[in-house]
Amino acid sequence: MSKTAFITGIAGQDGAYLAQFLLGKGYKVHGLVRWDSASEPYEGRSRINALRLNSQNLTLHMGDITDANALTALIKKIKPNEIYNLAALSQVHVSFQTPASTLDINTNGTLNILEAVRILGLEKSVRIYQASSSEMFGSTPPPQNEHSSMMPCSPYGVAKLAAYHLARTYREAYGLFVSNGILFNHESPLRGEDFVTRKIARAVVEFEQGRTEPLKLGNLDAMRDWGFAEDFVKGMWLMLQQKMADDFVLSSGEAHSVRTFVERAFSYIGVEIDWQGEGESEQGIDAQSGRVLITIDAQLFRPLEVNYLLGDASKAAKTLGWAPETDFETLIGLMINEERNISQNGSGPWLKAG
Ligand code: GDD
Repeated sequence: MSKTAFITGIAGQDGAYLAQFLLGKGYKVHGLVRWDSASEPYEGRSRINALRLNSQNLTLHMGDITDANALTALIKKIKPNEIYNLAALSQVHVSFQTPASTLDINTNGTLNILEAVRILGLEKSVRIYQASSSEMFGSTPPPQNEHSSMMPCSPYGVAKLAAYHLARTYREAYGLFVSNGILFNHESPLRGEDFVTRKIARAVVEFEQGRTEPLKLGNLDAMRDWGFAEDFVKGMWLMLQQKMADDFVLSSGEAHSVRTFVERAFSYIGVEIDWQGEGESEQGIDAQSGRVLITIDAQLFRPLEVNYLLGDASKAAKTLGWAPETDFETLIGLMINEERNISQNGSGPWLKAG
């Protein structure tokens, strides 16, 4: 008999790829969609539309991760074998402006899932994936793995860390099968437009098509370990196929600065960037034409920054047999190519027929 999965945050990048992956494995997939994720012009809509076209085995439910009663009722009705808790406020910079709602969504939302499973007595029949984050490591020096200290630097990181500990506590206290996936940055053409990689990929294609206004960026020197989201959702699934629940880092194992991402992205369209000036006056110039392509906007700096994330995913490699399949250069190329498709056709063929 086919398995049933319930994905909270199905309208997001990871939710869309995960739904596609599970549908391809013959799962019946139920997804929780927040009311405003399903309305125009929010970009989540296009991900959902793409999914809707693809399968009869997909059911979307309007709801909210912060509504404990409704969530419990939904889980009771769906009777999932696997729950993937991906719903979150995921923009780290926004979490500084909305810290209380970040905790409500990212921490209490997770608690609502754990409590629902416990209250419904589903401890033995449901497996839970909790979307933990490398932001939880914060200022801990690289490389980071499952044993590194957690020193978060944002309300987002703090909220995710509390959720991570709640998951571990419920695992030990009540025997819930709940695994934390500690995922380093993972990108794709489905990435929200205010995350730095998508913002850069989009701007590069706009420059290719005649954009004149410089791209404004914040901290160019932050180091991130960027992988491809489609590779990572397979790791989420693998975590729930193990004998025992556990916690795993998923990462590409390579770190690059935002500056390097910018350089490689422009080099993909044949433009070499020459950096001039310092601090807030720094500019990225087209080395050939002298045109200003990048400027710094102080408003895009965060009150506190995670400087260096570099994951060590050797436990996932050994235990899950998981490895990233898409390298940094390939990721940049596929994001730019898809951005070209989006600008020409209005949408890209992001999701394979499932
Ligand atoms: N968003 C954004 N916009 N970031 C910028 C910009 C800009 O204009 N300019 C520089 N940056 C820098 C940020 O300061 C940060 O150091 C880095 O680019 C990456 O920022 P994001 O793409 O916003 O991602 P993130 O690293 O903060 O968080 C992502 O990864 C986490 C896992 O480590 C998110 O997906 C989180 O939800 C996720 O948990």
